[in-house]
Amino acid sequence: PYFTWINKETCIACGVCGASAPALFDYDEEGIAFGLRDDNKGDAEVPSNLIEDLLDAHEGCPTESVRVYENKQK
Ligand code: F3S
Repeated sequence: PYFTWINKETCIACGVCGASAPALFDYDEEGIAFGLRDDNKGDAEVPSNLIEDLLDAHEGCPTESVRVYENKQK
């Protein structure tokens, strides 16, 4: 399984993640991304049909802020 959360400390609000994976990421009022499905906790398993989008977001983020793990992190 895959889990994801955004490192909000390093996100520069570039917008790639939400464009790549709109079902997984949204932005706060400052444009900083967060994980939509678990309030950025990283504890919700990413559905298998969204994994491709997740990996696109992960690869596309210029600051490596889209964290992807195969185990729960927090
Ligand atoms: Fe931020 Fe990276 Fe998304 S900079 S807006 S986490 S693609």
